[in-house]
Amino acid sequence: MTTSHEQSFYDAVGGHETIAGIIDRFYAGVADDPELRAVYPEDDLGPAAHRLTMFFEQYWGGPKTYSEQRGHPRLGMRHAPFSVTPAMRDRWLGHMHAAIEDADMSAEHTAHFSEYVVRAAHFLVNTFDEEAPHDQAPAFEGLHGPPSQ
Ligand code: HEM
Repeated sequence: MTTSHEQSFYDAVGGHETIAGIIDRFYAGVADDPELRAVYPEDDLGPAAHRLTMFFEQYWGGPKTYSEQRGHPRLGMRHAPFSVTPAMRDRWLGHMHAAIEDADMSAEHTAHFSEYVVRAAHFLVNTFDEEAPHDQAPAFEGLHGPPSQ
């Protein structure tokens, strides 16, 4: 038995089923968005969807399959080959917010999930061809896992 104290966010929101549902809806949105879709190098979005599912499961306290298969997330480095502009960030976030809002989560969990992806997405912008450089995001120490208490 786990008490609510020990329960991870992952378990509290419904585990794999909930995360997989969010990722399915998110990538359906990406597939339907030609400009954002063009940033993804592979013809098949399935492997990318699988990697993001594993990453979110691990981030929220579920199975650590992501790191077992991919090593340290190093998301900044892994996004370096792609031009993540403020416009792409906003498209990415638009699809992610829609996917999160359609999940069967409490308002509090929805807000918590959303806050993380907003901060992470701002942090991952690496190309500022549309806006002045002062838009640079501050360092985000909780990118790869909740900040330690
Ligand atoms: C800001 C807009 C973003 C864009 C345009 C973007 C784009 C991409 C692209 C093109 C890939 C390569 C697809 C693949 O092979 O997996 C990727 C991978 C990935 N992205 Fe993003 N991404 C964004 C934001 C985020 C955010 C906010 C997160 C996490 C909170 C994230 C997590 C990941 C992960 C875990 C991978 C797979 C890394 C690996 O193990 O290879 N991305 N992203």
